Amino acid sequence: MMARAIEWLDGKLRILDQSKVPREQVFADLDNYHDVVLAIKEMRVRGAPAIGVAAAYGIALGASGIREAGKDEFLVQLNQVMQAFAVSRPTAVNLFQAINRMRKAARGDGVAEIKRSLVDEAKRIHQEEVTATRQLSQLGAELIKNGFTLLTHCNAGPLATAGYGTALGVIKAVKEQGKRVSVFATETRPLLQGARLTTWELMQEDIPVTLITDSTAGYFMQQKKIDCVIVGADRIAANGDVANKIGTYTLAVLAKESEIPFYVAAPTSTIDLSLSSGDKIPIEERSPEEVTHVQGVPIAPEGIRAANPAFDVTPHSYVTAIITEKGIIREPYGKELLSIAKWS
Ligand code: MRU
Repeated sequence: MMARAIEWLDGKLRILDQSKVPREQVFADLDNYHDVVLAIKEMRVRGAPAIGVAAAYGIALGASGIREAGKDEFLVQLNQVMQAFAVSRPTAVNLFQAINRMRKAARGDGVAEIKRSLVDEAKRIHQEEVTATRQLSQLGAELIKNGFTLLTHCNAGPLATAGYGTALGVIKAVKEQGKRVSVFATETRPLLQGARLTTWELMQEDIPVTLITDSTAGYFMQQKKIDCVIVGADRIAANGDVANKIGTYTLAVLAKESEIPFYVAAPTSTIDLSLSSGDKIPIEERSPEEVTHVQGVPIAPEGIRAANPAFDVTPHSYVTAIITEKGIIREPYGKELLSIAKWS
């Protein structure tokens, strides 16, 4: 059975440290919100829906750690906790949706009641992601024919969602429907989520997977070895532009050139109607060291300049369809997204 990415256990948050998978399966029991913020920053918890779920539990932990405060003082300190999460990672909108929901849930006559309702809301957010990812996977599987070879980028499985998975959820559901399917997984430089996590998850599901370097994708599309591309998303703007792991845009352009469908699978918690288009999505810039080093080992001359944007934006015109738990939508995305978005 697949190890759970995130679990609320006896008032603590248990996470599987994704930075160590597959070399080691190490769980950490986090009992204060500072450690949860750090786990998100250091990508021990990662993937848009999983970041949102972890932050929700982290806020509940932060609330439980506020002692000897009257209600007004408690709410001031709770706001500081939420702020710490808001500056942890900027691109995945699920984080901000979760913070907003927790803010709205901070109601009750007394501090004890508010603390309880925050834990309940975090559990609800988690359960909703489990249900949504399961539903969207079943819907998306209808798009995939028996014998298809799919290409996926980064990691959009149970680890990334604290649920069933999005892109990998669809692939798992295809297999459950009795269809044969195989996968090319890009290694996903610089942090190798594809090589480390996607291959690991698919192998546990007994789904045939071939690992390729990021730059090999075009070669196999040209050779007609790939029937479609399917990826997850970190934020979908109101016009259907999609932010996802750096390199996604390159794959979308290649897919269009090769006349291969390019699918995005994401729960509606990833839709951000407040941004009219993808150019307004904040793109996280991470440490250059992630590029100059691989798993701590230097691979470039000392002192070299390196750029490390963690995400890119794929314009909606490259997206064949967006698969959500509320249905599969296509152009014109604006109208469709407005009708299905969970929060705006
Ligand atoms: O930087 P990461 O590993 O958090 O980026 C994750 C991705 O880009 C995923 O594709 C995305 O969050 C979708 S997860 C279902």
